[in-house]
Amino acid sequence: MPLPSQLEGRLRVPVVAAPMFLVSGPELVIETCKAGALGTLPALNQRTTAGLDEWLTRIDEELGATPGSAPYGVNLIAHRTNPRLQADLEVIVEHEVPLVITSLGAATEVVEAVHSYGGLVFHDVTGVAHARKAAAVGVDGLILVSAGAGGHAGSLNPFALMAEVRPWFEGTILLAGCLSTGRDVLAARAMGADLAYLGTRFIATEESMASDGYREMIVDAGAADIVYTPAISTIPANFLRESIVAAGLDPEHLAEPEKVDLSHVTNPHAEGEGGAVPAKPTSEAKAWRDIWSAGQGSGAIDAVLPARDLVVRLAEEYEAAREQLCGGGTR
Ligand SMILES: Cc1cc2nc3c(=O)[nH]c(=O)nc-3n(C[C@H](O)[C@H](O)[C@H](O)COP(=O)(O)O)c2cc1C
Repeated sequence: MPLPSQLEGRLRVPVVAAPMFLVSGPELVIETCKAGALGTLPALNQRTTAGLDEWLTRIDEELGATPGSAPYGVNLIAHRTNPRLQADLEVIVEHEVPLVITSLGAATEVVEAVHSYGGLVFHDVTGVAHARKAAAVGVDGLILVSAGAGGHAGSLNPFALMAEVRPWFEGTILLAGCLSTGRDVLAARAMGADLAYLGTRFIATEESMASDGYREMIVDAGAADIVYTPAISTIPANFLRESIVAAGLDPEHLAEPEKVDLSHVTNPHAEGEGGAVPAKPTSEAKAWRDIWSAGQGSGAIDAVLPARDLVVRLAEEYEAAREQLCGGGTR
């Protein structure tokens, strides 16, 4: 599919740096966009709507002063338990944020508000039923979050997910899960994605808000160091094993959550940043802040880089892979 006109010709490489709770802030967005990939951040990484307004003002100014920058995006948790949804959406409309990424709910109101100024809405899904619901409310793009992704990953193989969505969805498709290199980005395109959605790879950048320990743990980790469990966030998510151990928990014997409680994600600033670990009351550690999420793509991440260098590297790897595979060779 061609990219929507708002994005066509605006990206140096078909990459979106995915929004990550407590990790993506304005520095990462600005440097990513200046280098030519689409940078994003979750609205809830700011404690207040006024703070979000300040961040967006800064991003608009910096990117406005740098011709050729890629557009940016903001992630909205479009769930009824997010008390800031309406206020944050108003600020997004005021700033005419080019891309809004919705998660945990696709709402007609959000789509209408963003379309009113010509913006785009992409929605992330881990399965086909939610993809159909989001398509029905008119989102412009679907983000297919497959098994092994950082954060609240899905459990479906990316080929299987793509095969069940690409044939009927006419909008933009992004693939997420374990994409770390430019060659991976090309593979996602070959599978039918228009854009690649990279989270974990962007944690290991100098501009991410992750601590040094978090970044280094990702550089050192392989896929076997990632634990997929509902115990930390009450719905299944991927976490670095070593950070679970450091929090005093046994990754092999994590308690099953009694019920799904996403308030630490949808209303994170209510009880302290990051929310408490729901399933382990004896631990002082907090999900996301102390128990660190990352995807199985960690194994391909070998260094912490400035975001600019990462985007340049992704673009070079992408072109080299394309040349090698499509450059007229015999195989
Ligand atoms: C630390 C962390 C925090 C995340 N926070 C969010 C979030 O706030 N909102 C969201 O839509 N996705 C969130 N995600 C998911 C990412 O946006 C993206 O789907 C995922 O990282 C892609 O898979 P990858 O990490 O294998 O590249 C998070 C992922 C990580 C690793």
